[in-house]
Amino acid sequence: MTMKVREATSRDLPRILEIERLAFAQPWSLDSFRRELLLPFSRILVAADGQSEAVGQPAGFLCRWLVADECHILNVAVDPERRRGGIAMALMTEAIGEAKTKYIHLVTLEVRRSNVAARSLYRKLNFNERRLRANYYGPGEDAIVMELHLGGVR
Ligand SMILES: CC(C)(COP(=O)(O)OP(=O)(O)OC[C@H]1O[C@@H](n2cnc3c(N)ncnc32)[C@H](O)[C@@H]1OP(=O)(O)O)[C@@H](O)C(=O)NCCC(=O)NCCS
Repeated sequence: MTMKVREATSRDLPRILEIERLAFAQPWSLDSFRRELLLPFSRILVAADGQSEAVGQPAGFLCRWLVADECHILNVAVDPERRRGGIAMALMTEAIGEAKTKYIHLVTLEVRRSNVAARSLYRKLNFNERRLRANYYGPGEDAIVMELHLGGVR
């Protein structure tokens, strides 16, 4: 089955919320996702099976902001039953590709130090681990700030 990455609409929100709740102990709320859909600098991408936009429930999603010349990845999650199938890689590749077309210089994100899978995904995409933010996610839960320099010149 072909995996297609497309922009999310409000009709995707129930499925996005389901994936979010399966992926995170402290998930975003439905209202948070609704707000993201309304923000002009925010974009949610979904990866879904099928050729047609009407076909297929999302198996994963990504949320990013474009602010000034920076792209910030706020959230990426894949249905646990669909992991290790390249879905996160497809979503990240799309977001990075879009950033390049908009002459964005830097893609940033924060990841839990304990999140081996996500850190490995980002390293595979050539992100560098830049800084540690101690206790960012709560006591003992440090964040690592990761950056990908795109080096585009306008
Ligand atoms: C992290 C996450 C998004 C990866 O999604 P995925 O679709 O399974 O990832 P992909 O199949 O695209 O994997 C791409 C690469 O990431 C790395 N990776 C993914 N899962 C991994 C794991 N469990 N252990 C180690 N490396 C992993 C590998 O390098 C992998 O390449 P490979 O399969 O060729 O070895 C997924 O595990 C997830 O939803 N986790 C919970 C939510 C989360 O932590 N999000 C990130 C918040 S910063």
